[in-house]
Amino acid sequence: MSSRKSSLRKKLQKRIKRISSEKRFAKSVKIKRKLLSEASFIQAKKILCYMALPTEVETRSLIQAAWRRGKKIYIPRIVQKEKHMTFYAIHNFSRDVEKGAYGIEEPKVVSSRRGKAGEMDLVIVPGVAFTKSGARLGRGGGYFDRLLKKIPAVKIGVAFREQIVKSLPMKPHDVRMDKVVTDS
Ligand SMILES: Nc1ncnc2c1ncn2[C@@H]1O[C@H](COP(=O)(O)OP(=O)(O)OP(=O)(O)O)[C@@H](O)[C@H]1O
Ligand SMILES: [Mg+2]
Repeated sequence: MSSRKSSLRKKLQKRIKRISSEKRFAKSVKIKRKLLSEASFIQAKKILCYMALPTEVETRSLIQAAWRRGKKIYIPRIVQKEKHMTFYAIHNFSRDVEKGAYGIEEPKVVSSRRGKAGEMDLVIVPGVAFTKSGARLGRGGGYFDRLLKKIPAVKIGVAFREQIVKSLPMKPHDVRMDKVVTDS
């Protein structure tokens, strides 16, 4: 693994943890509002969206707003032995979501709800750092890179403004975002 990537991950994680949880919540609300007015969000019918870990931009209220607007929401599920992710539609947090690998909230497996890569209109992507022009640094598993490579949809990275950096080391397997939305 690139040592520049891993030292950047550590530096950025520290920077995020210095933001209070109240501030992170307020920033997430701002990011949600910006996403709701994005043309690609307004037009999207099927959206693949991550479920946030504590240091990531919160997405629950974004997902609820999307449901109110009649959109179909899919969330990813890690398949550890194959090191890849699948995704399933959810209609409700309490019934359709469970705690999965690494404590991430994942969709329950219901084969009729399994999403197909070609059907997605928009993907909301988490990251540890982004550049304004769409370069992305993830948590280091390559899970999103492998997933996004297969999905021909608009990809929007979301992050706190503190996660935007001037440049990032990008390898051929690293998938670029079409847009990055922050709270600034
Ligand atoms: N499409 C791919 N095919 C095969 N291996 C891949 C692919 N994408 C990423 N990898 C491998 O995954 C590992 C981690 O990649 P990378 O450091 O870019 O992760 P990341 O972008 O930080 O993580 P993530 O995508 O999970 O957020 C690398 O060793 C890389 O070679
Ligand atoms: Mg990558």
